[in-house]
Amino acid sequence: MYLGIWFLKGNAMKHTALLVSLLLGMAQAQGLKDLAQKHDLLIGGAIDLRYLLDDPDYTDILEKDFNVLVAENAMKMDATEPQQNEFNFALGDLLATYASKHNMKLRGHTLLWHQQVPKWITSGTWNKDELEAIMKNHIQTVAAHYQGKVFAWDVVNEAISDSGGMRDTLWQKTLGDDYIARAFRYAREADPEAKLFYNDYSSEGMNQKSNDVYALVKKLKEQGVPIDGVGMQMHLSVLNPPSMEEVAANMKRLADLGLEVHITEFDVRSAGYPGTPAERHAAVGKLYGDVVKVCVQASNCTAFMTWGVADNHTWLPGDSPLMYDGFYNPKPAYFAVQEALKGQ
Ligand code: G3I
Repeated sequence: MYLGIWFLKGNAMKHTALLVSLLLGMAQAQGLKDLAQKHDLLIGGAIDLRYLLDDPDYTDILEKDFNVLVAENAMKMDATEPQQNEFNFALGDLLATYASKHNMKLRGHTLLWHQQVPKWITSGTWNKDELEAIMKNHIQTVAAHYQGKVFAWDVVNEAISDSGGMRDTLWQKTLGDDYIARAFRYAREADPEAKLFYNDYSSEGMNQKSNDVYALVKKLKEQGVPIDGVGMQMHLSVLNPPSMEEVAANMKRLADLGLEVHITEFDVRSAGYPGTPAERHAAVGKLYGDVVKVCVQASNCTAFMTWGVADNHTWLPGDSPLMYDGFYNPKPAYFAVQEALKGQ
């Protein structure tokens, strides 16, 4: 009997030790995506394919922390249609395959933008019908190709001017104001499932630009245009952060329209911050944590994505705007996001 109890006790202790180490292991291995799950929040970042292919430290981070990816450049117009009606999906397909293999969602960026427009378009002269056909063909060919692989598209990117009103782009000038509505309809025709977003920057707080974005998407909704959400890029600066109350109010008014919000390109500039490096990184971290808290508390904020993964490759060279440093070490920003996700 005693032996029996000893045997059980011994084994029970062994099993307990094993269980504890497993739980500890799981706790340590818990990435941001595991913490984000309880909020039904997608968390991820923009991917530079050059690193995806040959940097295991980079992919280790993706697989530990992220459940959604977006191509930083590989799925833009100049990359996917470098020559008229000649499409190149190689890099986008690579990313789609990687995402699918690692049970991650893929966000599409972007079907229509005034930058990274291929030269065969910018160097040509097009009348309205010709450019409309080019826009429709591009949107529908790319959206159809990625149907079932891309769960949400930035259909139109940055169509609102920083000084108010519509941005004076090739698309706007040639096709008129309602090109945006037609772009969304073309995308929906090509992909009946993907969520369709309008994406812009400096439109996270309550300001002229966010009011213009709100007016645009409200009109699209009233016209019955198939739009599902608004992307807030959130390229922020510690020197001039938005008010969190305003961000929350902005998300709420979009929720009242029945629209989701994705934080699509989050990063935080801090060059010139008047403090020590530790104070600078702490200030960046606080902004990361504050925004994630606003997102998880909002009823319609369903994705938080950074524009890049680590500081060794950011579109803001010389700054340190991301959650990982250039040696792939997590920064205060990472731990601030972790804490915000652990909170209620
Ligand atoms: O692909 C060419 C390469 O062939 C050439 O050798 C090289 C040098 O000229 O340029 C390469 O193209 C560069 C491209 O990134 C791909 O790396 C362009 O010069 C460069 O301007 C382009 O920058 C991108 C920028 O958008 C373009 O406006 C950034 O990487 C990208 O992070 C940035 O992302 C945008 C979002 O799409 C929209 N929101 C703003 C955000 C930051 O600008």
